[in-house]
Amino acid sequence: MKDKLDRLINEHIQALNPKQPLHKGEDAIRLDKGELPYPPSPDVVKAIAAAAVTLNRYPEVLGDSLRTALATYNNTKVEEIIIGNGSDDLIELIVKVFVKPGEEVLLPIPTFFVYDFAVKVVGGVSVVVKRTEDFGLDVEAIVEKVTPRTKVLFIANPNNPTANLVTRETLIEILDRLDCLVVVDECYYEFCQKTVADLIEKYPNLIILRSLSKSFGLAGIRLGYAIANETIIDYLYRAAQLFPVNKLALVAGEIALKDKAYILDNIQKINQEKINLAKELEQLGFMVYPSATNFLFVNTKPLGITSQNLVRSLRDKNIFVADFGCKQGLDGYYFRTAVGTPRENQLLLTGLKQVIG
Ligand SMILES: Cc1ncc(COP(=O)(O)O)c(C=O)c1O
Repeated sequence: MKDKLDRLINEHIQALNPKQPLHKGEDAIRLDKGELPYPPSPDVVKAIAAAAVTLNRYPEVLGDSLRTALATYNNTKVEEIIIGNGSDDLIELIVKVFVKPGEEVLLPIPTFFVYDFAVKVVGGVSVVVKRTEDFGLDVEAIVEKVTPRTKVLFIANPNNPTANLVTRETLIEILDRLDCLVVVDECYYEFCQKTVADLIEKYPNLIILRSLSKSFGLAGIRLGYAIANETIIDYLYRAAQLFPVNKLALVAGEIALKDKAYILDNIQKINQEKINLAKELEQLGFMVYPSATNFLFVNTKPLGITSQNLVRSLRDKNIFVADFGCKQGLDGYYFRTAVGTPRENQLLLTGLKQVIG
């Protein structure tokens, strides 16, 4: 039976790893997924409950009232916005529209793993370029890797897992020198307020990705969007599913955008807690990288403990952070932790103190 299926399943899909669920109890301290520790705005929760009674009907095909709200939020035209089932969905859609089997996608590493995953799913080839020592972009190295088969360059800005931003000037230099599609993933935009979305008119090969998972606290509903010129958006929509975004997400997004005070308050809390947490981690002897996001990227080498051992020991204490030891472009000494509530951060620090003795 297995042999029969092996013959049928595409080879590049057989090469993918199975997904492994990580079971966490209700009382777990969850800092491993870069989530906002606060619930969505109460107005959003009410609107979702109200919309639930209409779930017998399909959503609007293009979700136009949310697109209109996003166009206003970003000062763009509605035709320059596409919404998706999380920005992950849009990453896959972009790759599906632009990359044929055997074609290349440039990835400055370390970076967000979903880009490479999406490329593998379509049988494309990820061409990695190492970031600089401080995780900036090596523009010359990127340009050198461009071939006639290069279709897309993904740049997470700020980057995940390294949390740093590259400058607008660097991005402009890349846009001036590359003809391929350049995707600037601004998933953490609200935490840092840095964007190049205003450049989509000048550079027709530029796509901006955004998410409502982080600053809006809507990771569970799956909602993201992209901003690009009308032609790109038109083709992305042609290849998208008919109903990629569910009705509850459409409503949640629209109301979340209206409750600006709630979002701002959460962002301020996280940015303040981030400073406190970074300071305390440094006092414990860790090296903490500058962060323009809602998480911290931490180097365990000064303490001589591998991140694998550290993350495992924390897990035994029901505290979850993400191990980046030995991930693409990194040695065995890195972990990423979301900035949690003050209580969660204190529990993390207590756990770390016990682990490092
Ligand atoms: C850089 C980056 N892009 C995209 C995403 C995915 O966001 P979403 O929840 O909208 O799919 C993440 C999530 O961690 C991320 O870090």
